[in-house]
Amino acid sequence: MVDGFSVGARAEAVSEIAASRRYFSKKTIEDIDVKGKRVLVRVDFNVPLDNGRVADDSRIRAALPTINYLRHQQARIILCSHLGRPKGQFDPAFSLKPVGERLSELLNTKVKVMDKTINGDVKKVAENLRAGEIMLLENLRFNKGEAENDPEFARKLAELGDVYVDDAFGAAHRSHASTVGVANYLPGASGLLLEKEVSVLKKLIEAPNRPFMACLGGNKISDKIGVINQLLDIVDGIVAGGGMCFTFLKAKGYEIGNSIVEEDQVGLASEIIKKAEENEVALYLPIDLVAAPEISKSANYKVVSAKKVPEDWLGLDIGPATIEIYNQALESAKTIFWNGPMGVFEIPQFSRGTKAVANAITEATRHGSLSIVGGGDSLAALKMFGLVDRVSFASTGGGASLKILEGTALPGVEVLEDR
Ligand code: 3PG
Repeated sequence: MVDGFSVGARAEAVSEIAASRRYFSKKTIEDIDVKGKRVLVRVDFNVPLDNGRVADDSRIRAALPTINYLRHQQARIILCSHLGRPKGQFDPAFSLKPVGERLSELLNTKVKVMDKTINGDVKKVAENLRAGEIMLLENLRFNKGEAENDPEFARKLAELGDVYVDDAFGAAHRSHASTVGVANYLPGASGLLLEKEVSVLKKLIEAPNRPFMACLGGNKISDKIGVINQLLDIVDGIVAGGGMCFTFLKAKGYEIGNSIVEEDQVGLASEIIKKAEENEVALYLPIDLVAAPEISKSANYKVVSAKKVPEDWLGLDIGPATIEIYNQALESAKTIFWNGPMGVFEIPQFSRGTKAVANAITEATRHGSLSIVGGGDSLAALKMFGLVDRVSFASTGGGASLKILEGTALPGVEVLEDR
């Protein structure tokens, strides 16, 4: 056993992920010559901060294979990223300084952290970088030109490097200067993370091992309509939970009390239920729920039928009978995609459903299934339960992964050179 996994099951998942590379058609850093070159690398260092320190460094760690490959190749590395959503101007709360510090610690080497993105002495420092040295530009979104995909801003960024590498999977669905515009001025290739993310997700939609189950939760059905529609053509079954399931339950005519619902999506939910039947996709909805009068740690709570949530109460988790059914549905799956928690997992009495599906998914993984988790909340749940290392692949991009599953091309990938 390695980390609780059978060696066989882990090796199987790892080799399946490696084999999925054939689903990626763009040049990667391994296809181009980066030796001694100034390589402008777009990474997604949009990480949570707490009191000026990085609270979760997963996205920084995920970029390390590309950074280390480039160091090994004696490239001169210029990293750039956004952090949060500052409104096109400097805001110290969104500075990448803490990220630079964490990156230096992880790499055990000094990273030159700039206090400007393209101005000041940034260009000079980039020109004087020595082989293997790394600099990190200040937050791209401190400049209006970034989100506007302004050609002038893109050109100035491009001037810093000889080659452009995109490793920012989490931002690949954004048409910004650093993800799209810059490729008009520099030859562009993919980093190792971007390649892996896109490959794994494309394999998932093009050639999944069956049965393929999707486990979908989270609050808003409207965010996921495109994905659900697409998945109905691919998967064998969907287990649904979280706030979004009440729109389905309402469409079935159930009494959902005060539960969260998107009234304007009820019609669409009915269509999805119909499409699932036509496509012979098993669409599992909760049969029981944990409900309470309010979302709070001290709230009274009880298990109720999904057909009748008491008036003024709201469903906050899937119930024990539903958990049992979902466990069985997931246990025999050969491929599982999970996006969105089953309930308000941050509060212990409403966390059981999310924990149960997380356990079922890691158990299936242990027996050789390929499990892919996308989306910040599901990842946060996995981290909270200490299970994040027990799925085959945890995507670093919530929005971007959903776009791929919707069948939408990612602008940040499209602009890269073909192999
Ligand atoms: C994310 O966290 O989803 C990515 O970094 C993209 O961030 P954005 O939604 O602010 O563009």
